Order: sequence, then C-alpha cells, then structure tokens
Amino acid sequence: MSAPLLITFDKVWKSYGEGEARVHALASVDLAIRRGEFVAIMGPSGSGKSTAMNIIGCLDTPTAGTYSFMGVDAGRLDRNRRALLRNLYVGFVFQGYNLLPRTTAAENVELPLIYRGVAARKRRDLAMQALAEVGLVGREHHTPAELSGGQQQRVAIARAIVTRPTLLVADEPTGNLDTARTHEIMELLTRLNAELGLSIVMVTHEADVADYAGRTIRFLDGHVASDTLTAEEAA
Ligand SMILES: Nc1ncnc2c1ncn2[C@@H]1O[C@H](COP(=O)(O)OP(=O)(O)OP(=O)(O)O)[C@@H](O)[C@H]1O
Ligand SMILES: [Mg+2]
Repeated sequence: MSAPLLITFDKVWKSYGEGEARVHALASVDLAIRRGEFVAIMGPSGSGKSTAMNIIGCLDTPTAGTYSFMGVDAGRLDRNRRALLRNLYVGFVFQGYNLLPRTTAAENVELPLIYRGVAARKRRDLAMQALAEVGLVGREHHTPAELSGGQQQRVAIARAIVTRPTLLVADEPTGNLDTARTHEIMELLTRLNAELGLSIVMVTHEADVADYAGRTIRFLDGHVASDTLTAEEAA
C-alpha cells in the first residue's frame, strides 16, 4: 500500500518579470511525492530547482497551477497561514549552515522551539535529544566557530528536526563539504528518513549524493525532464 500524498504540483507555473523580460522558472510542472520518500532534485543551474524548493517548503507560491501540501491548497493560503503550515511541518537545511554566530549549538537548535513557545527546560531537553540524534554529544556548548563544517551542518540538521517536521527541505546540504563529510551527512539523512520516517526533498549537483535518495527528479528549463527510482526502490 502506498503512503499518503505529501506534495502535489498540478500544472505549476512560476514566472518572473514582465513582457519580453518574462522568465518561466517553472513551466507547467506536474509532480507527486508521498510521505516518507527521500527525493533528490537535480538539473543544471537555472533549471528551476530552488524555485520548486521554495514552493515545496511553502516559502513561495505558484504564479499559476495548484500546489498542495498535506492535502492543503498551500499556494492559495495567505502569508500567515503559509508560515503556520511551514512552522508545523517543514524543516529547512541550506548549503551555508545559517547558524547564529556566538551562539552555542544547543541555543541554535532551541530557536524554532522559542518561536513555538516551548518552556525553557523542555526546549533544552529537546535540543539535547536532537543534537544526540545527529551525533553531536559533547559539542552542545560549542559555538559555530568552534565546530567543523560537517559539525555545523549537523547542528543545522538538528535545528531542522527538533520540531519533528513531516518534511525536510534541503537545498545543496553538502555543497560546502569535502567528500568524507558529504558521505557522513548523507548517511545521517538516510538514517533520519528510515528511522523517523522523515520525508526529504534535497537539491544536489552530485550524482553520488543523489544516489542516497530513493528517487531522482531532474529539472531542465523549468520542466521535469526525468523522474526515476533508484534500483533498490524500484526492486
Ligand atoms: N526572484 C527572481 N526574479 C527573477 N528571476 C528569477 C528569480 N528567481 C529565480 N529566477 C529565475 O528563474 C530561473 C530558475 O532559477 P532557480 O533559482 O530556480 O534555478 P536553480 O535550478 O536553483 O539554479 P542553481 O543550480 O544555480 O541554484 C532562472 O532563470 C532564474 O534566473
Ligand atoms: Mg538553486
């Protein structure tokens, strides 16, 4: 039995500019992603990957067509309702970890819980648990400057999962890491997908990073050029 649908694009367009300068970043994209999937998004620069990710993460809305997230027509929600949906269900990880400097790992991970009004003691417990889940026991009180790139990305992942999101949106999460650190982060994401059932949509330029995902969607000029399951998933 297949898992319920998490994400659907129904003839989604995203266009910028007017007249001759008009650019179609997405041109009638149809897509369906189910809960629990781990999907890699690939494609050349300018093909629409980040545009699609911004819609998937409820940060942006289509110009035309329908974007549904968890059965909700998210493209037609106002800004505040989209923010609510995002805060409840989506975690984000970016290429440049986006941690607050001069702020410890634990405090960085606690941030999304502060926005949710979680009490201080509970916040600290949940942050410590999330840091343990990403393998950072003993580093909780280090600031970003005292952590390696791979460790900083682990803090960013802990911050993204501390709220127990349904979906993790990751735009080139290993873009700044060396090969060994890249594989460690990908093993971590694979484990979170398997153990927590966390759905993951991740942009990458590297085929060996995409190989960790169960499915690879390639964008080209704002279209989906191919959509393939890895050998293991297809079996
Ligand atoms: N805010 C914007 N205003 C105007 N054009 C935009 C805007 N955002 C994206 N575009 C255009 O839309 C197209 C797709 O951009 P997008 O950022 O989605 O590409 P991408 O696949 O993520 O590329 P990269 O691999 O370089 O990150 C590009 O032609 C880009 O110039
Ligand atoms: Mg991009």
